[in-house]
Amino acid sequence: MEIRSTTEHDRDAFVDTLFAAFGRFPPEGDRVWSALEMDRALFAVVDGRPVGTAAVYSFELTLPGNVPVPAGGLTAVGVLPSHRRRGVLTAMMRHQLADARARGEFLAVLLASEAVIYRRFGYGPATTTHRLTVDRHRAAPRSTAVAAEGSIEVLRRAECGDLLEDAYDRYRRTQPGALSRPRHWWARGAGQPPVSAAPRYVAVHRDSGGRADGYATYLLDSGTLTVDETIAADDAVTTALTRFLLDHDLVTRVVLKKCPPEHPLRWQLADFRAAEVSDETDWLWVRLLDVPRALTARGWSTDGELVLDVEDSFLGERGRYLLTVRDGKAECYPTGRAPDLSLDATDLGSVYLGGVAPSTLVRGGQIHAHHPDAAALADALFRAERPPHCLHWF
Ligand SMILES: CC(C)(COP(=O)(O)OP(=O)(O)OC[C@H]1O[C@@H](n2cnc3c(N)ncnc32)[C@H](O)[C@@H]1OP(=O)(O)O)[C@@H](O)C(=O)NCCC(=O)NCCS
Repeated sequence: MEIRSTTEHDRDAFVDTLFAAFGRFPPEGDRVWSALEMDRALFAVVDGRPVGTAAVYSFELTLPGNVPVPAGGLTAVGVLPSHRRRGVLTAMMRHQLADARARGEFLAVLLASEAVIYRRFGYGPATTTHRLTVDRHRAAPRSTAVAAEGSIEVLRRAECGDLLEDAYDRYRRTQPGALSRPRHWWARGAGQPPVSAAPRYVAVHRDSGGRADGYATYLLDSGTLTVDETIAADDAVTTALTRFLLDHDLVTRVVLKKCPPEHPLRWQLADFRAAEVSDETDWLWVRLLDVPRALTARGWSTDGELVLDVEDSFLGERGRYLLTVRDGKAECYPTGRAPDLSLDATDLGSVYLGGVAPSTLVRGGQIHAHHPDAAALADALFRAERPPHCLHWF
């Protein structure tokens, strides 16, 4: 078997092979995969035929402290059913992680089709999303829900020009866990709505000076108004957009997809049960490739010291690091000091963005705490200023 990178000439064969792995055919004129970067797309080739695919997008990921860093986003993973369970994916993963390191990236991310595949390669689930379904006729607000002043205009997706792209770009720079949406995604209509050009209405919120500071994209069908995403400069703008959607006539329920953890909506309703939480799922998985660089890159809100013993089973590496945080900045060096915590790189990926407390994994037995204070100390350090959230599909 040979693992080789691809070129523009391979694009159609790449997409065909990927679809064959899922037992499907690419729909006519489909733009979903049009943002693939062919120089970061791999073929696994057996007897001259491609049997496996894996690709990487060059994103930026916003870390706690609002630090955007380069992050390879693994995607388009598929192995033909005739060639599974023979190490094809494993070989592509080794190739891809080595390439990411060679490019100077210190972390990689992915969305998983199945949650049992990627831990073995060092990825841990790091953010979650859920869906809120609101019974519109029970959605009266509590008097304390504060909405931003300004105006809302309804546009069609095709009329928005750069408005969505610009608003999203401002938003993702201040949201830990958010990914960039490179310009060519919007230009080519890649991915899912609202990046793709699928017909959508867009509620655009403008501040009192007329500047667009948020949007929600939606479609109404048979009394259900489904919202792809709400992007807002702050919570008051989110509230204004949500109120607008909940006040829409001829709607019995509003479905808000890809909500962040701790969404404030239920707290804003007179009837707490009018909004139902469902479909909570892992979203972004994180894989650290250089522990000291990753830990020094993110922002920290509490001072402290922690010694981490980190085992990277897939790459066959092990290191013990002293993390020292002072005034929001971290230093991280190899140390011989006794560890506070011992953990696998997979679980360090899970706690890295602050989406799950290290103590949860200590309680579950995945992270080993060497003394009674270690878990609480790690919780205080790793917590992010707000829960990490990613709503970009790739
Ligand atoms: C998932 C997929 C790419 C795995 O490819 P593969 O070449 O069979 O994987 P490998 O042979 O390298 O498997 C490595 C290990 O992962 C395990 N594994 C792989 N896919 C698995 C799955 N779907 N469920 C459970 N275990 C899986 C293998 O059993 C093997 O375990 P081992 O090391 O203990 O022997 C392939 O099954 C596939 O194309 N599935 C359909 C498309 C898909 O789900 N793609 C992922 C999109 S995110």
